[in-house]
Amino acid sequence: MTDVRLENLVFGIVGAGAMGRGIAQIAAQAGAKVLLYDTRSGAAAEAVAFVRQMFQRLQEKGKLDAAQAQAACGRLAVAESLAEFSPCQLVIEAIVEDLEVKRGLFKDLEEVVADGCLLATNTSSLSVTAIAAACRRPGRVGGFHFFNPVPLMKVVEVIDGFLTEPWVGTLLASLARQMGHTPVRAKDSPGFIVNHAGRGFVTEAFRLLGESVAEFYEIDRIMREAAGFRMGPFELMDLTGLDVTHPVIESIYHQYYQEPRYRPSPLAQQRVTAGVLGRKSGRGFYQYQNNTPVAMPVTPLPAERPARVWVSRSCAPSRQQLVTLVSSLGGALDERTTPQAD
Ligand code: NAI
Repeated sequence: MTDVRLENLVFGIVGAGAMGRGIAQIAAQAGAKVLLYDTRSGAAAEAVAFVRQMFQRLQEKGKLDAAQAQAACGRLAVAESLAEFSPCQLVIEAIVEDLEVKRGLFKDLEEVVADGCLLATNTSSLSVTAIAAACRRPGRVGGFHFFNPVPLMKVVEVIDGFLTEPWVGTLLASLARQMGHTPVRAKDSPGFIVNHAGRGFVTEAFRLLGESVAEFYEIDRIMREAAGFRMGPFELMDLTGLDVTHPVIESIYHQYYQEPRYRPSPLAQQRVTAGVLGRKSGRGFYQYQNNTPVAMPVTPLPAERPARVWVSRSCAPSRQQLVTLVSSLGGALDERTTPQAD
């Protein structure tokens, strides 16, 4: 199964939004023929034009030569209906995050594609098993969870649903590698790996905000500058859009039977109701002008400095490092065995 060459395959992509476009780009660039379908009239054509523009940009940057860019553009095509997916060996779904809509789509796809065609879902929070269960052949359904923006985020979760046959994950992982991505195999569980771990990042950030521990922009700054994240949780939510993030938070919470650690925040629901979604609505946690966030205040450092710093002797072996740090910052050390009042 790992020797299946992507260049010989026809991919169908349903849903030509942010994710569908990204997946179409990496697939066509790697050599697959890609058909894009979307229920919104004109959306698939817009997506094809967008991805072709991306190839042109890659050519301008010298990452593709003219022949490669032209060939990649030529491998993209619009499908006017699902019926055009009959020659596909793989269909990837990236439509609205709604279980019943996805189940309906997979049922419709089974009426069109051959029995050996692999059906993959890019769902970020729904059960792959539940999507597959709607199918006549649930064994050929797997999760293929890319991240946004797809061409830059090089990891993809390959998810085995309860009834997924082993060849599905093996093939998806091989195709991911051929598209320059790193597959990570995961079992079907709420949030899989990344969005499960992400509860500590996003849900907990709302908890910090709700408890007035710090301002949202201070939490972001700490996560960037101290914890080394590329962006903080509120910057990430503004990028993704709360209309996407909040339902994911709710879905994972309910799938874990109302586990208190994952409880959604009323602050998020209020923002969604108000339409304050993030970059896409011009205002999220940050205000945006020409898609650039308006700068937030930087909390000044306290003007007062401690007279002396006492470093516990029980914190060896890092004590010497702390002593050196205090000295290098120009601080005075309190060398007594117990700390003084100041
Ligand atoms: P999007 O809203 O940008 O695009 C969805 C597209 O699907 C739209 O163009 C819409 O017209 C189309 N669509 C809706 N229902 C359809 C149907 N029944 N048949 C055909 N087309 C239909 O959404 P986005 O962000 O691309 O997300 C798509 C999927 O990918 C969702 O399941 C989402 O959870 C998942 N995902 C999203 C990520 C993100 O950061 N945006 C990251 C990883 C996964």
